[in-house]
Amino acid sequence: MRVILSNDHGGIAVREAILSALNTLNAEVYDMGVSSENSVDYPDRAALAASEFLKGGYDFGVLICGTGIGISMAANKIHGIRCALIYDSFSARLAREHNNANFIAFGGRMHYHEPVEDMVRAFAEAKFEGGRHACRVEKIHQLESL
Ligand code: RB5
Repeated sequence: MRVILSNDHGGIAVREAILSALNTLNAEVYDMGVSSENSVDYPDRAALAASEFLKGGYDFGVLICGTGIGISMAANKIHGIRCALIYDSFSARLAREHNNANFIAFGGRMHYHEPVEDMVRAFAEAKFEGGRHACRVEKIHQLESL
């Protein structure tokens, strides 16, 4: 499994936990994130990771900012990216099974009700169900031409 990760300064509180979860899953991680509190701009971090992802060869990407909101909004502006803002293991699993998300986003300043490691694992181990969900995902991408 090849995974790309990026974060801004707001995401540093959970990046190590996420890297550790990915390590447990034996993922090969390209870490494009920052590990200092020096301020950087989350759209730049999203653009870097998404551009790299779109070159191909990655299974999914992980983006982290303070809330996960800004960095997921930025990523979803990029054609071909489906970034899901995750808040528990259920949303993580469904983000893959129904939405075929290729990025998941978390917030380093959020208080989740379960460990981020569990959420990352739930996404990584889930499979896209296809079928009726495939045409809905296709419709998401048709919106890129509006
Ligand atoms: C940075 O302070 C913060 O705005 C950013 O990490 C993120 O939370 C934005 O959505």
